[in-house]
Amino acid sequence: MKRDWKRSLFSFVLPWVGIGLLAFFWVRWNEPKAPVMPVGLAEVPGARLMYRYECGRCHKVALPGMDGKMGPPLRGLRDRAYIEESLRFPGRRVKHGYINGMPSFNQLPAAEIKELVEYVYQL
Ligand code: HEC
Repeated sequence: MKRDWKRSLFSFVLPWVGIGLLAFFWVRWNEPKAPVMPVGLAEVPGARLMYRYECGRCHKVALPGMDGKMGPPLRGLRDRAYIEESLRFPGRRVKHGYINGMPSFNQLPAAEIKELVEYVYQL
């Protein structure tokens, strides 16, 4: 009797535990990875918001993990008013060659808009 109990544990229960563990880790390893903010950038003005609002999903930016293709690379925009307009009302002037696909950030607090504008301005 004792032997039978052991046999069923090893031949039936343990394989399923193994399959369960494999499935669990397979799913975890295959989860899409959001751009993770490198330690140290959490306090950097501008950069921290670029991660919080995931600009890098659509824009290529000079920050780790930000390599989006939907919008233009953010670089050399030397016009604060234009950058602010792009954030608040992206549909007003759609950049040639790109779709009107950027969400509006008009609801952000003015201080955050300013922080983002300054950051994009100096890229
Ligand atoms: C869902 C995709 C998406 C996200 C997220 C996104 N953008 Fe955009 N963005 C676009 C697209 C597409 C364009 C080009 C069309 C246009 O001009 O509206 C664009 C245009 C811009 C422009 C104008 C660029 C130029 O060369 O004229 C700026 C500046 C900009 N985005 C900044 C940002 C910032 C800063 C963030 C994060 C707070 C952000 N975007 C988030 C898709 C996105």
